[in-house]
Amino acid sequence: MNVFGVDIGGTGIKGAPVDLDEGKLSDERHKIATPHPATPDSVVDGVAEVIGHFGWTGPVGVTFPGVVVDGTTRTAANVDKGWIGTDARGLLRDKLGVPVVVMNDADAAGMAEVTYGAGRGHGGTIIMLTLGTGIGSALFVDGRLVPNTELGHLELHGHDAEKRASVKAREDEDLSWEHWAHRLKKYLAHVEMLFSPDLFVIGGGVSRKADKFLPLITGISAEIVPAELQNNAGIVGAAMAAAKL
Ligand code: BGC
Repeated sequence: MNVFGVDIGGTGIKGAPVDLDEGKLSDERHKIATPHPATPDSVVDGVAEVIGHFGWTGPVGVTFPGVVVDGTTRTAANVDKGWIGTDARGLLRDKLGVPVVVMNDADAAGMAEVTYGAGRGHGGTIIMLTLGTGIGSALFVDGRLVPNTELGHLELHGHDAEKRASVKAREDEDLSWEHWAHRLKKYLAHVEMLFSPDLFVIGGGVSRKADKFLPLITGISAEIVPAELQNNAGIVGAAMAAAKL
């Protein structure tokens, strides 16, 4: 079965049709730069452009980098504040003229990893963390998602955790892998203290370089593995949600 997923990120809006039997993109994904400012109207236009590229007319799943409850976006840490309280599902439905589901980006990536990737076949408590512009989280208990956990905004040493341990923090502060891994370890220890997960899945583009930092993270009881679907996890997870429409 083919469905369509779109991933709205701080830097790019990317989408592709997804083959749900395989958990893979069934065509090369199309990506455009996220407009700045990333207001609801400009981003919705961007999503329409990505979908239009494929001439897609079926249901669409869309991820958003913030809290999404019943189609309404409630937070906007790394996009325009105009998203707060916006009926994103309604806006997209009106623009695209197809059934739409909107969900948090990390929740979507987590769904994809738990179904097709690094968390496949694992029971118990799994926490997926996406490291990028921010830190996203997805919590699973025996395969069931607890949506909108927002663990990237836990407070760590008096700071919002994502401001210290995201990939953006590493780049902005020009941190060495060792220094950044140290911060990440403190963050994981904190999350572990609160949730005692059996498995951490580390996603985001940086998961491709897992060998540079995962071996430096010690003292965590849970198993820690890199995501397998990497940058496509959000698209696949969004498409999985669209398949239920
Ligand atoms: C947002 C989360 C999002 C994460 C990754 C955070 O700043 O609050 O909702 O999942 O960034 O994009």
